[in-house]
Amino acid sequence: MTDKNVISSLCQKAIDMRSESYAPYSDFLVGSAVLLSDGTVYTGCNIENSAFGPSICAERTAIFKAVTEGRKDFVAIAIAGGKRDGELQYCAPCGVCRQVMREFCDSSFKICLAKSAEDYKEFTLGELLPESFGPDNLS
Ligand code: THU
Repeated sequence: MTDKNVISSLCQKAIDMRSESYAPYSDFLVGSAVLLSDGTVYTGCNIENSAFGPSICAERTAIFKAVTEGRKDFVAIAIAGGKRDGELQYCAPCGVCRQVMREFCDSSFKICLAKSAEDYKEFTLGELLPESFGPDNLS
């Protein structure tokens, strides 16, 4: 399910979603694509706001879209970010997005930071959010 072709295509979807980014304040365009266990993909982009606080990252947009459709069986996410007129960076998820991933995903959830469909860095959620607090703490 998460072979190289699937991850490459996920990265490309994240890159393509940057065209939907609404980021007039930072000019930092981020796209994301999250993969579900049956191969379904939900995409997202960052959406900023003039009051700043209500802005949302691309990762949470994609994850929350999936949750609104009753889907929580997340396998991997690709993220593509960079300044509007610059090159793509290996754009790592912010702390808030890592914690949202922690709510729904186990530590093996894959996080791919894409510069292109072939050039990406891959981490697990456990690597990016060690010693974390999650739903199990409250059970
Ligand atoms: N941003 C994301 O959407 N995802 C990230 O992983 C990092 C940051 C957004 C938030 C804000 O709209 C802009 O990038 C600059 O921080």
